[in-house]
Amino acid sequence: GSDRTLDRDCTTLSRHVLQQLQSFSPEAQDLSALMNRIALAGKLVARRLSHAGLMEGVLGFTGEVNVQGESVKKMDVYANDVFISVFKQSGLVCRLASEEMEKPYYIPENCPIGRYTLLYDPIDGSSNTDNNLSLGSIFSIRKQEGDDVDETASDLFTPGRNQIAAGYILYGPSTMLVYTIGKGVHSFTLDPSLGEFILTQENIKIPDKGSVYSVNEGNFWQWDESIREYVRYVHRTEGYSARYSGAMVSDIHRVLLQGGVFLYPGTREKPEGKLRLLYETAPLAFVIEQAGGRATTGHMEILDVVAKKLHQRTPLIIGSKQDVAKVESFIQNGH
Ligand code: AHG
Ligand code: MN
Ligand code: MN
Ligand code: MN
Repeated sequence: GSDRTLDRDCTTLSRHVLQQLQSFSPEAQDLSALMNRIALAGKLVARRLSHAGLMEGVLGFTGEVNVQGESVKKMDVYANDVFISVFKQSGLVCRLASEEMEKPYYIPENCPIGRYTLLYDPIDGSSNTDNNLSLGSIFSIRKQEGDDVDETASDLFTPGRNQIAAGYILYGPSTMLVYTIGKGVHSFTLDPSLGEFILTQENIKIPDKGSVYSVNEGNFWQWDESIREYVRYVHRTEGYSARYSGAMVSDIHRVLLQGGVFLYPGTREKPEGKLRLLYETAPLAFVIEQAGGRATTGHMEILDVVAKKLHQRTPLIIGSKQDVAKVESFIQNGH
């Protein structure tokens, strides 16, 4: 087959970040270096996943339960540690916070110069790990205010609009990295033989309407009546298809490219739902808004929600403008 990389200019991720900013500004240099480190973490995780079934000690559970009350997988721990070690070496990040750590992780030697915090979900879709199905990693970068080594990380309790960069890595048939620094959404595909993420699509725009709805209908009787009514509406309307993989990164990636809506509503027992604001819903909301879509709790835009605690959860309705508005109308007006 023909090698597409020869027909194009082979824009690498770090070069792309620089191109979007004034290349020599300190901000551009920082962001380029930060994205480069995230890419390295993604490559390390992708490499391990590609051998998972062949190596001892990769698949399965650790026996621990995380702060979310979930059983931890070995890959959750591996990926969590990968991000820590790549950022220890970068100097730019003073603090990391993730789904798998109850408290923020400080790298004191970086704090004098590293004024950034990395928020991340090391493995999104953990339940897919042992089945060789798609997984993701989600990241968000914020400026860090104040120097105190504060375990509550209360300086992060500001709207998601304050994110400097956000995106995800999708470990699918190929590994992709999708990111925004507030100047559109761009995707890169890992060329494993080069070890580089190469630009595949610039300024991705989500369709205003799609045909996919993506929700765990196993929770039907746990939802509020308004969500049930929306799903009944979808069932009786021609042209909708259900798609749900168990990893929101892959489900939302499909929605980004083809349109539609992904929902993780609250349930009676858990009105805030399952997904966490700072390292799941806010970064994905930033990406989808930058692509021309929307993300809401049903009552307010995800990017306006202010966390009250590090692991705060929010309901999520995200995707094409018209599809999100449809769900919203059921929540707010009952139809
Ligand atoms: P994580 O694996 O990071 O804990 O997140 C899993 C999330 C998300 O990726 C997915 O869409 C959702 O949980 C699936 O949950 P249900 O099995 O409850 O549908
Ligand atoms: Mn989890
Ligand atoms: Mn997740
Ligand atoms: Mn996770």
